[in-house]
This record gives sequence, C-alpha cells and structure tokens, in this order.
Amino acid sequence: MNQIEDILSQLTLEQKADLCSGLNAWNTFPIASLGVPEALMTDGPHGLRKQYDKESAMLESSVPATCFPPAATTACSWDKDLLYRVGEALGSEARDQGVSLVLGPGINIKRSPLCGRNFEYFSEDPILSGDLGAQMIKGIQSTGTGACIKHFAANNREYFRMVSNSIVDERALHEIYLQGFERAIKTARPYAVMSAYNMLNGDYCGEKKELIAGILREDWGFDGLVVSDWGACYNREKGIAAGMDLEMPYSGEENTERIMRSVAKGTLDQQALDACVRRVLSFVFRCEAEKSKPYTYDAQKNHEIAREAAASSAVLLKNENGLLPLKPGTKVALLGEFAEKPRYQGAGSSMINPLQLETALEEFPKYGIHFIYSKGYDSTKDETDESLLTDAKRVADEADVAVIFAGLPAHYEMEGIDRTHICIPQNQAELIEQVAATKPVVVLLCGGAPVEMPWIGCVTSLLHCYLGGEASASAAAQLLTGAVNPSGKLAETYPIHLSDTPSYRFFSDDRHNVEYRESIYVGYRYYDAAKMDVLFPFGYGLSYTTFSYSDLRLSRDTLLAGQSLSLSFTVTNTGKVAGAEAAQVYIEHGPAEKHLCAFGKVFLQPGETKELSFTLSERDFSFYHGGWKLMDDCTVLVGASSRDIRLKAMVSIPRGMTPPKYPLATDGHWDAVAFYSLFDKIPQISFSKHPFTINATLTDFDSAAIGRQIHRVAKWFAKKYIVSDNYLGQQIMLQLLDQNPFRVLVSLSGGLLTYCMARGVLMIANGQVLIGLLAFITASRKRRKRKIKSK
Ligand code: BGC
Repeated sequence: MNQIEDILSQLTLEQKADLCSGLNAWNTFPIASLGVPEALMTDGPHGLRKQYDKESAMLESSVPATCFPPAATTACSWDKDLLYRVGEALGSEARDQGVSLVLGPGINIKRSPLCGRNFEYFSEDPILSGDLGAQMIKGIQSTGTGACIKHFAANNREYFRMVSNSIVDERALHEIYLQGFERAIKTARPYAVMSAYNMLNGDYCGEKKELIAGILREDWGFDGLVVSDWGACYNREKGIAAGMDLEMPYSGEENTERIMRSVAKGTLDQQALDACVRRVLSFVFRCEAEKSKPYTYDAQKNHEIAREAAASSAVLLKNENGLLPLKPGTKVALLGEFAEKPRYQGAGSSMINPLQLETALEEFPKYGIHFIYSKGYDSTKDETDESLLTDAKRVADEADVAVIFAGLPAHYEMEGIDRTHICIPQNQAELIEQVAATKPVVVLLCGGAPVEMPWIGCVTSLLHCYLGGEASASAAAQLLTGAVNPSGKLAETYPIHLSDTPSYRFFSDDRHNVEYRESIYVGYRYYDAAKMDVLFPFGYGLSYTTFSYSDLRLSRDTLLAGQSLSLSFTVTNTGKVAGAEAAQVYIEHGPAEKHLCAFGKVFLQPGETKELSFTLSERDFSFYHGGWKLMDDCTVLVGASSRDIRLKAMVSIPRGMTPPKYPLATDGHWDAVAFYSLFDKIPQISFSKHPFTINATLTDFDSAAIGRQIHRVAKWFAKKYIVSDNYLGQQIMLQLLDQNPFRVLVSLSGGLLTYCMARGVLMIANGQVLIGLLAFITASRKRRKRKIKSK
C-alpha cells in the first residue's frame, strides 16, 4: 500500500472531512499524528502576497516581495520565455518564504474592458492567455513551488460576482472561456485549479460536476487539486461530489459536520469524499517533497526581471515624426502625479507590498533624462485643479517636449468593483490637451485596461506602459531614451467607444443572470467580423524599427482529420536599430471568423532575417459543436497585428464542416431568441428575495425595513473590524460587503460569525425577531475555538 492509501485507511470520517477545508485562511489542515504536513498558499499572481496574519482572509498587510508587472502588462510582451522567467523568479521567492502554492496565474478572458479585475488577466484571446499562462506555471513550478491557475471558469465580471450566473453557450464556453485553461492545464500541469465564485449555466462552478469531474478531470486528464476561491463554497456536499477538494479559507465547523452527516446518511458517496481526500493528501505530500529541492533566490535579480518584463511589454501606440526615442539633451517637462506616485499594479488580493518601488522622479535622471517636474493633477480627484494645471503649462513652456504620465488612478480599477466608464479622469485629459496646444507631447499611459482616447489626436507619441510593476520607472526611462526598443503589442482591442464593445448591453444589467449573448464574438473576433473601426486593434504595437515578412511555407495545403500542418516564414529587421517583433498566425474561416492560433517573438539586429516556424494541429482548425469538429477550407494569415496581415495561404479541408452561423449584432442588440436557441435548456436561475436565505446579499436586505437595519449594523461592524494598513484593500472589503452573500461573510469572518449565528440573523431579517435573536445569542455562545494542529 502506498503512503496516501495507508493514511487514508487510518483516517476517521471527521479527519477526512477536516482535510477538505483549510486550517486557517492560508494553510491546509495538518494531522500531526499521521504525519500529514500542512502546505502554505498565498496570492499571486504577479508577486507574493504573504500576509503576516494567517488567520485573516481580509486584505491585510503582507511581507515585502518583488512586484512584477501584472498579467495585463506581461501579456503585451507576447514572449513565452519572459513569462517563464517571471514565473521562475516568483517561484524562487515563494520558496524563500516557505510558500508551497502561488495562487495564480489568473487567465480569465477579458470579455469587456469594464471588468475591474482585467489587470490581473492576460487577454481577450484564449490562445494568448493559455500559452502565456502555461509558461508562467512552468516557470513557477520549476522551482519546486506549485501554481494554482484561476478562476475556473467564466468569471468575467466583478459585480455581484458571488451570486451571478454566467450564461454561456457551448461553443463560446469551449472555444473562448475554457480553451485557455485547457491549453495551460494540459501543457503545464499546475498543482492546482481554483474554482470561481460565480455560477456557470445554473450551477456554482465549485459544485458543477460536469465542469470539474467531467471536463477538467475526465476530458483534460487533470489529476491535481481543485481548491475553492476564497469563500466560494455554497453547498459543500455538492462540491465534494463534483470533485472540488478543498474549501478555503476555513469557514468554521459547519461544513465539516455537513460532510460527515451526509456520508453517514448516505446522501454523499464515501468514495467521492475519499477521492477528494486522496487529492488533498497527494498535494500536501508533493509540496512537502519539493521543500528539499534546491533553489536560488536573488532579490536584485528579480527586480531586474521585473524591469525587463515592464520594458518588453510596453506598447508604443503612436510616434509621429519619430519624436521617440528622445534625442540626447532634450529638455523635458515631466508632468503628472504618477511620476512621483507611480501606478504600477492594481488593487485587491493581488496587491503586492513591493520590495523596491521606483519612481520616475528618482530614476529618469539616472538615464540621462533632464527634466523639470510639475504635478499637473491630483490623482485622487477627477476635477482640474487650476493652479496645478497652470504650473504644468508654465513648466512645459520652458521645455522642448512634455512627457505626461496619465491613465487610470488606483481607485479606478480594483478587484471586486467593475468600472462604469473607460475614460481617464477629466483633469488628466485637460492637462494633455492644454499642454499639447503648445508643445509636442509624449503620453506615458498607465493602467491595466483600455481607455477611450478622445485626446489622442493632439499627442505626438503615446507609449502604453500598462501597470509596470515595481521597476516601471526605469523601464520607462529605457524606452524613452531608446536604450530598449519598444516591442509590446496589445493583447486586447482598444475600442473607440465603450458602447462599441460586444457585451456592452449584457455586461452588468442583471445581478444574477449574465447572458453572454455575443457568444464567440469576443474582442477582435467581433470587431473584425463586424468590420468595425477600432482605436487600436488586437496585436498592434509600433517599434523604433520596421519589419518585413516573407516566404510563407506550409507543409501541406490540404488537411485531413488527424493531420497537423507545419508552417514557416521569415521576418527581417528593415530599419536602423535592433528590435523584437511579435509575429502572429491567425486562421480565417469565411468573413465572420478569425482566431489566433500561434505567435512567436523574435529579436533582430538591423538587416537581420530569421525564420519562425510553428506546427498547427487539427484542433487549431476546429470549432466546438457537441465536440471538436474540423472546419472546412480556411486561410492561414501571418501578420504583425490582427489587422496588419502580411502573408496568406489557403488550406483546403475537404471533409471539414462549416460552423453554424450565429447572427452578428453590430448595434449591440444581440437577439434573445437566437441566443437561447443555442441551449437545450435555458440555464437561468430564478432568485426570489423573500424569505432571505444564506445566499442573500446585504443589498438584498435593503428591501425590508429590518433588513436595512441589519445592513447598517453590518456596515458599522465591518468598519470597526476590517482594519488594515492596506488602505485600498480595506476599501475593497468594505465595498464588497454590500455584494457578498451572507454565507461569504461567514467564511471570511475567520470564525467571528458562524453559520448558526448567520441563520439567527436571517430569521430576524425574515421577521422572526425574537426567535432569531435567541438563536443568534445561543449560537454565538457555542462558538468554538478554531481547529488546532494537534487535533
Ligand atoms: C480572489 C482570488 C484570491 C483569493 C485569496 C479571492 O477573493 O478571487 O483570486 O486568490 O481571494 O486572496
């Protein structure tokens, strides 16, 4: 008998149930008497957020760590090798901190630029997300640290994220929302997968058998751990039956007792529980074994990797008259508060306490940039401060060029809160426009998601730095001076207006049922099919040099089932400086379908030519329709962006099929009948407010007088107890309170609130004031201390 089976045979039912939830907010449950170790997990994904307080699942302060650029940024590098090295550096730091599992990468699709958490995700495209995510996982795991890919699946907005139901048709689900996970999981084999907060087609993701036991484990062969997102458990027995192994964080004894009761009653299969326990045990022993693996950690080297990642990911979007790189000796007016208070990461569970945070004010002089600085705007406000604007214009008057830091202030993009518009603050737009009236302006744009740019016409150059991590300032200096040639390309489309986005009318109009009516038409797939003008297309980015493409060769021009196809082409640097080019391969089928299928980045000296080659599989030419089906004749496109196609070749697929047509709505009014005809059964959930249940949110409580009082008390209580020196984290937790269902308040309360107490509160809210009060008081007296290790 092996070690796992041996331990399993000795575990009591209670111990088995115990193992299926955490010890606290960040550790697994150890059983010392049987030699079961504990494993420590922390966020993720672009650095370590190891909280000092292990008991708290709130966004508390954390140990200093290298803050690499978040995924929205590194995705623009289109550089798999870079992502591996970022992962490796992150993994080495995790090892140094005794962390066994990094909660990342997050590879959810950017369905709309409004999602508050887009900065944590790679792309609107599943191939780019999946392949870059896979490299990051491989890098992390090369150090003996596990990676946990998240949030599985169709978790694409933050608004009421714990009670919302993503309604996604089969084709969009497999091709868009699952494909990135599938690629990353199959190629990089992460230790763990985190199930998402939301429901998918009527079931919570962590309880959906079809998703976890079926697609993830059976179809894709994943044999690692499935862990809940923090506080995502609703019906724990259903989760165990579906194969969701580990509930995090520890939510009190109730779920343990429920598991035991259900097994005893026979409503939960003992074998399903054993399977979860086996996977938890395999996971903790794997983590333990890796602890002896040698690793090297060098904080300075990691800072340099963070800088390289920022520099390789910045996207040059406009550069008239070759204003950039700046000529040596240029007198610069450096404007914008981000020069002294950089925007370098987003807020929420991914927020790193950076080891070495740079500012432009300190770094630019080291790179020979001579400037006079003026703040220009107050980044905590939207309105123009006339005195700041006047001073900025005065400083600009004395300079040759104005370099303006602008973009999304920290409170514009956060986990838990979606944006309602995609503009930069009015004070920044005004600064850009007024300064540009008299001087050439370079905008250094910061932020983790697309913005509308009505001011674009007046600026000479625009370098999008996204969120550059802790070394963003030196990276920007390298790019401005030409020490590094920009080579980033957009991993998402920049629409002209928010209203152009395909999900515009179906993103946040309903708290509970979110209809993904645009189906597969996400990002460039939509804009290209609809032939719509965009501000900047997917895959777009300029360089200080130019590249030409030639010699497209295909190993075959006819493809049959089971066959693959090799293709190669050459890229030449036709300019005067060295640079890197991210080349993209798409497959086009008819006028309405085009998808990325491969990409590669190549570094070239002036005049140098290199060949790139790829192997495309049958899957690359397939669509999902009750299974993957080969499509009929299509065209392979090679380009510098999705809208800058340089080479083409036809592929004939004689036994392929034409994918079923889905009507395009170019005005955003996707048809309900056409959408629901894609489903056998309409997977909407019905939600009745009364009586209030454990899944009601505090906002729902507002519909009853007594509920409003409870909401008020909860807010008061939260303000008192959610204290943290992480200011934005605290603000997020307070705002989320309104949208969190009651059960989540229990699981994130760290034992302060138990399910029994919560039920007492629900009785009160439902009008049974006295019984509820009694139940609440009795339950709070019975509250037990948390589990301890030696149990
Ligand atoms: C986030 C996860 C994160 C977890 C732990 C959740 O709110 O959705 O991405 O890993 O918290 O902090």
